[in-house]
Amino acid sequence: MRLDKYLSNFSGLSRKEARQVIKQGDVLVDGDMITDPTCNIADTAQVQWAGMKVAPAGPRYFMLNKPVGYVCANRDSQHPTVFELLQEDDIESLQVAGRLDIDTTGLVLITDDGQWNHRVTSPKTRKAKIYRVQLAEPIDPSASAQFAQGILLRSEKKRSRPAELEILAPRQVRLTLHEGKYHQVKRMFAALNNHVEQLHRERIAGIVLDEDLAPGEYRALTAAEIMSIDDD
Ligand code: URA
Repeated sequence: MRLDKYLSNFSGLSRKEARQVIKQGDVLVDGDMITDPTCNIADTAQVQWAGMKVAPAGPRYFMLNKPVGYVCANRDSQHPTVFELLQEDDIESLQVAGRLDIDTTGLVLITDDGQWNHRVTSPKTRKAKIYRVQLAEPIDPSASAQFAQGILLRSEKKRSRPAELEILAPRQVRLTLHEGKYHQVKRMFAALNNHVEQLHRERIAGIVLDEDLAPGEYRALTAAEIMSIDDD
């Protein structure tokens, strides 16, 4: 990468300012002063500006409390996206780790660490996703046993993986899934002739939605939260 591009990408300087400080002799590459902004530098180069190390930021991890009406896509021609709620640089490199439908609220994880994203979302890792569900019809107490056995979704041949259903009120349940098929929660209740009126994700594996985040707010994950994905 060209030195002026590298410096402006990773230091917050504009390209013009980066060219100026390079020409002034304020930039060292592997300990040598380089005054040519067009100089190509190696991926492994150590760059310093005015004595400070300049390097790509480490991977980023966020939790967002998704409001209704936002889509979990990087671009959408009709609806606002969850990325419009973030005040971050280089939004294009961020991805959602586990989408929610436009009318679902709650915990969305966002990262630019592709491997971590894969560990959160891969069907092989079976990370728990916990939802609070408001139903149109009262739930029959026998539904817990049906979820424990796995539900046969319409248009599927195999039952879903066993899921845990906790009945909180006649029309409110907490559901723990270990897979994430398209519209899975809504399809599970549709298979029982019920209908999901509100859906809210409370937790993914060990990461619980921070109750201090109002809908639309987000924060960086703590180191413990990031590492908790690799527990169990
Ligand atoms: N299941 C659904 O049906 N919708 C979601 O947004 C998440 C899980």
